[in-house]
Amino acid sequence: METIFSGIQPSGVPTIGNYIGAMKQFIQLQDNYNCYYCIVDEHAITVPQDRLKLREQTKGLAALYLAIGLDPTKSTIFIQSEVPAHTQAAWIVQCNTTVGELERMTQFKDKSAKNNRVGVSAGLLTYPPLMVADIVLYQSNLVPVGEDQKQHLELTRDFVERFNNRYSNGAPILTLPDALIPKAGGRIMSLQEPTNKMSKSDDNQKGFISMLDEPAAIRKKLKSAVTDSSGVIEFDVANKPGISNLLTIYSSFSGESIDELVARYQGVGYGTFKDELADAVINVMEPIQVRYRELLHSDELDQILDTGAIEANKVANKTLTKMINSVGLGRKKR
Ligand code: TYM
Repeated sequence: METIFSGIQPSGVPTIGNYIGAMKQFIQLQDNYNCYYCIVDEHAITVPQDRLKLREQTKGLAALYLAIGLDPTKSTIFIQSEVPAHTQAAWIVQCNTTVGELERMTQFKDKSAKNNRVGVSAGLLTYPPLMVADIVLYQSNLVPVGEDQKQHLELTRDFVERFNNRYSNGAPILTLPDALIPKAGGRIMSLQEPTNKMSKSDDNQKGFISMLDEPAAIRKKLKSAVTDSSGVIEFDVANKPGISNLLTIYSSFSGESIDELVARYQGVGYGTFKDELADAVINVMEPIQVRYRELLHSDELDQILDTGAIEANKVANKTLTKMINSVGLGRKKR
């Protein structure tokens, strides 16, 4: 069975962009793959976080993983910082990655430009190697992510090829992973600025729908989503980014194709369309929110995360030992 790894940062409540781009795929994959789903709290501290809020969000994200339908009997669900191999392997990855490669990462360029590079942590630059470590430790074949992670996956592939070439004298040490990006919905856009990605850290709350937004808030945000003045519901990303984005969101939540939706809404106004889109989103989100609230403070959640950490440590340490031996750390082979 092939192995899947993916992670989400607990840097805020996930948006419907995270859900469509990544989480929805997690559920579909767990029947046919050996899956590891991680809450990557070490990634979250590349930018300042409130200590108590981070803990709360970390646990909240774990509850959300279960609430969307991840099944701990099928998938290993765990918290990154509870598996020390991640940061240990990340050091070896960093030492086999160039500064030039890291400075070329668009996410680093965007995030550091936001602050004019003042106060930007070194971790923000060296975060992709930690992500590489996350992936290679589980010898992952496939990594379900949204489009914005494509470049990090390319870096991972370059690293794996380089590491195997440098250190293996026979069979490859690390598995070469592929990104698994959804054909539609790999890049959900902001509701207010539909040429920008929807992001959980957007200062404008109206730009994104969080997975824990109340139904009334979901409806209100969709009602005020930016469209255009043509009043025609059609899919045309270049000329009508707003309505095209809403069609993508609708299709992801209702399961209908974009063509079906366009045909169904011919001659219908944006108001009705947005209202029915809100129904489709709420229909999926409301039951998830109910399960989330039940799970959040349950003993069950802690037990699942404890078991997940034990399993993840076992697998990750095996690969870490191989990496340590490959580069020659310590007095003798472990
Ligand atoms: P993060 O936490 O920013 O986002 C989690 C996942 O959601 C996807 N995503 C989107 N998909 C569609 N439309 C959007 N607007 C949108 N915004 C976010 C992301 O592509 C991602 O799949 N570095 C990663 C977390 C990570 C990871 C890993 C992922 C750490 N280690 C190893 C995979 C494998 C991140 O910051 O994702």
